Amino acid sequence: MTARIARVKGRSLWDSRGRPTVEAEVTLESGAVGRAIAPAGASRGAHEAIDLRDGGEAFLGFGVDRAVAGIAAEIAPAIIGMDAREQAAIDRALCELDGTPNKARLGANAVVAVSMAVLHAAAADAREPLWRWLAEGRKVRIPLPEIQIFGGGAHAGRRTDVQDFMVMCPRAGSFRRALDITHDVFRAAGRLMEAKGPLSGVADEGGWWPNFASNEDALETLTRAIEASGHRDVYISLDIAANELGDESGYKLALDGRRLTGAEMAGRMIEWTKRFPILSIEDPAGQDDWKTMAAVNAAIGNRVQLIGDDVLVTNAERVEAAAKAGVCNAALIKVNQVGTVSEAKAALDAARAHGWGTLVSARSGETEDVTIAHLATGWNAGQLKVGSFTRSERMAKWNEVLRIEEAMGPDAEFAGASAFAAPVAEALR
Ligand code: PGA
Ligand code: ZN
Repeated sequence: MTARIARVKGRSLWDSRGRPTVEAEVTLESGAVGRAIAPAGASRGAHEAIDLRDGGEAFLGFGVDRAVAGIAAEIAPAIIGMDAREQAAIDRALCELDGTPNKARLGANAVVAVSMAVLHAAAADAREPLWRWLAEGRKVRIPLPEIQIFGGGAHAGRRTDVQDFMVMCPRAGSFRRALDITHDVFRAAGRLMEAKGPLSGVADEGGWWPNFASNEDALETLTRAIEASGHRDVYISLDIAANELGDESGYKLALDGRRLTGAEMAGRMIEWTKRFPILSIEDPAGQDDWKTMAAVNAAIGNRVQLIGDDVLVTNAERVEAAAKAGVCNAALIKVNQVGTVSEAKAALDAARAHGWGTLVSARSGETEDVTIAHLATGWNAGQLKVGSFTRSERMAKWNEVLRIEEAMGPDAEFAGASAFAAPVAEALR
């Protein structure tokens, strides 16, 4: 009975937006089975790995029959017989088989599903929960959650320009307590929204559908929701996803009726951190506007977490270049942005080597797959971004971390403020 791969099966299932996505199932000679489902982004960076979609009329072009066919025709024969515990070798084989710099031929959706399914199979073979298999005996922390309250941007018909209005509770002491607090903030925000007018459902990641006069109105409402919850030490975290708003030639804040230069955009971010309790900002500028990012980082990077998402695309080389240019102090890690588990881990290691914070992240299109809860914990990433506090494709991840926290028992250590780059953690003290 060995951990050699005996069977690889792909199938198409549905994601949280009701679009087709790829599931892979890997069976080992020992009988151990691993399964994983590819997520899908909506606000994607140009440097990301590319999903293979069928195009055409069916499913608005989002079909994944070609990606699934590639698993049967090419991926399975290439990795059957390999040892599932050799993740790096398998991921290398997947990259070589694809042969493109961005997984465009086989599709990042096919590749990521297989890569993660192999990981699950190896852990199952070792009879270990995935987080513990990944920890390899090292002490790991329970991640600090970053949880969306309002969803905007590309996830809500662009009702706000800012994409994610989130909260973080670095002093909660435990993951369970952080979720309890978030529940109260989320409900308080709902009550405030209701008082303003009709409460109209939720956005793609489960946050309240935004109904605001301006981006700052949203920030003010969130600040009031935190106060109304009665909890202290709750901070705001934003994903500007500025890539969707423009580039170095200018950024359009449609809701505010403003067009900002890069310098003005940097100024706006800095000003917001003075007026609102903002602890973290993701992608304050476009993916290639490193000048604006560096200006923001130079001004507030000593007290505010500045996360690179579209700018880094979970790519170790881009992390290195970004560190040299001083554009951020934290990296968002999305496995499907680069395509394989090993490449995502390399990006995380590169960020960590520069003293950055690291966040394992979901995509706006998700499923019941909870792999990221295990990656965030087992890799000791320190932070986990999943989306909001409704809808089971989100709650499944939060619930999985609750189980992990319970399984660790008294040994469980909540990352809290230690999840941030040292100057930011220091400023919180
Ligand atoms: P996406 O958004 O999954 O739609 O790309 C998530 C994010 O920007 O962090
Ligand atoms: Zn983002």
